[in-house]
Amino acid sequence: MTRFAYVNGLYCPHSEAMVHVEDRGYQFADGVYEVIALHRGRFVDEQPHLERLDRSLFELRIGWPMAPAVLKLVMRELVRRNGLRDGSIYIQVTRGVAPRDHAFPKTRVEPGLVMTTRRAKSIPAAALRDGVAVVTIPDIRWGRCDIKSVGLLPNVLGKQAALEAGAYEAWQVNAQGVVTEGTSTNAWIVTREGRVVTHPPGPQILNGVTRLTVLRLAAESQIAVEERPFTLAELKAAREAFLTSTSSHVLPVTRVDGAPVGDGKPGRIARRLRELYLAELERA
Ligand code: PDD
Repeated sequence: MTRFAYVNGLYCPHSEAMVHVEDRGYQFADGVYEVIALHRGRFVDEQPHLERLDRSLFELRIGWPMAPAVLKLVMRELVRRNGLRDGSIYIQVTRGVAPRDHAFPKTRVEPGLVMTTRRAKSIPAAALRDGVAVVTIPDIRWGRCDIKSVGLLPNVLGKQAALEAGAYEAWQVNAQGVVTEGTSTNAWIVTREGRVVTHPPGPQILNGVTRLTVLRLAAESQIAVEERPFTLAELKAAREAFLTSTSSHVLPVTRVDGAPVGDGKPGRIARRLRELYLAELERA
């Protein structure tokens, strides 16, 4: 079956899906994106993802490429054409095609819109059983990590460093010693006193949609969460750690920079939140 992509108004075979060389996303990373999971044929948290897309576009003064209701139709049509039930859709909007010049184009250009889908990659059984390892790296990103920009070079280098160290993810630590977030995940710890802590929303992190769902699920289960910055020292002394994202859901972190977190096994709260999240996926 041909796999389709959507590119600026056309559904075309994925292998032939191309954008113009002067698309500003390509030349300046002048664009934003979202990744939305598809679970049993249903988009997970579609509305919060589209609201975050709206916010990212607004912050960069890029217009919607089409009305949100139409964009939703295109998302569904692409998923239908690809016969997808479990996986994810990638949506990217750029400022469009214009002669290369740093400032915004002077004349009106249509924003560029690209969508692709992929089948779900299952999380390795060993990762679920034993938890995953993270390494820590300096947070060298820009000051607006709340915008889901396609400018991801520090994240790319960070993830590569993690893989080369045999780890699943790299958690970024800023100049103040605060653990901000992973390269494509949000970071959480459970302190020795049993308090769940994650970085508050703001320009230093992407306010993950999974993060928000986990905050809600925790509150519903009377699990108190503190949204405050936590340091690398706190991470190293933590009883548990875990990460959240669209594709990893809730995943226990059991090693940091080669040393065990707590007793080195997936923690009780991390496992509980993972169960709650998976149950929510089935229910929603
Ligand atoms: N990454 N932090 C960063 C820097 C991210 O790129 C992501 C998402 C998250 C988690 O956000 P959410 O829960 O909304 O997926 C946190 C996506 C999945 C990606 O780049 O593929």
